[in-house]
Amino acid sequence: MLRPPYQRYQHLYVYHLDSMVLPTFDDPDLIGVWLEDGCPILFFHQAKDELIASLCAAHNGRIIYQADLDYTDWEVGQEIAPFTLGGLTVAPVWAEEEADIRLDPSVIFGTGFHPSTRLCLETLSKYCRTPELAIGSMLDLGTGTGLLAIAAAKMGVQKITALDHNPLACEVALRNVALNGGTTQITVSESDLRLQEPDTNVDLVVANLYPTLLAELFARPSFWQGKLYLISGFIAAMEEELLAALPAGKIRMLERCRSERWCLWVLAPMA
Ligand SMILES: C[S@@+](CC[C@H](N)C(=O)[O-])C[C@H]1O[C@@H](n2cnc3c(N)ncnc32)[C@H](O)[C@@H]1O
Repeated sequence: MLRPPYQRYQHLYVYHLDSMVLPTFDDPDLIGVWLEDGCPILFFHQAKDELIASLCAAHNGRIIYQADLDYTDWEVGQEIAPFTLGGLTVAPVWAEEEADIRLDPSVIFGTGFHPSTRLCLETLSKYCRTPELAIGSMLDLGTGTGLLAIAAAKMGVQKITALDHNPLACEVALRNVALNGGTTQITVSESDLRLQEPDTNVDLVVANLYPTLLAELFARPSFWQGKLYLISGFIAAMEEELLAALPAGKIRMLERCRSERWCLWVLAPMA
């Protein structure tokens, strides 16, 4: 995340280490640390070859992969700039424009530029702003930067649980929730959906995840306690396989949307 003197991201220095136990440490140029299947991935604003070499030497670690790249390349060539979607203007913390939501995206998924996030934002706006649906509670599975949870709070959803397995995503989401005055409505928790069953007894479950994890969740009867589901994170070529993973005869498809290759379904369990 951004800390003084840094006010935006320009260049990223990335060190992917093997599964060593990384001690708690701080560095003024540190952006954050991901854990990917037990392997730490460290992100800095500046090159840190000496620091990484000494951490590896002291803790028996090894660099698997190292890279430096422009922030826009990390964001797949996309300049992170303000945009308006679903009736909300979203801006990065470094933009001067007025905005409904201010975001420090860090190196986490959920800037709002990916088609799947955009589909979720637009559909959230449609359903959360339909008074007859009375959406008062929501579960955001794989919250990333927290953008969808924050947007739902701005749309009036009172009780939101946002989960992610990536500790840095949770840190970033927490910071963004606080930046946007959402701490009374939104709880952010670290949770691996492969290992823990989330409590889906809510009005709306949002899951912008990846297809194999979605299929795993679909297969669990406990997943289907919610009233409505926004499911995204898969492309059109994967739709048939995922459709086949839905519990037969138990789920209604309310909507199927697409943006570029990306899809979103709105589902409801049958009474
Ligand atoms: C496609 S991103 C979606 C981020 C954000 N919700 C959005 O719509 O822009 C998926 C998120 O799911 C998280 N995730 C992936 N596998 C997970 C798991 N097993 N348990 C919990 N979260 C997971 C990732 O860390 C990532 O933040």
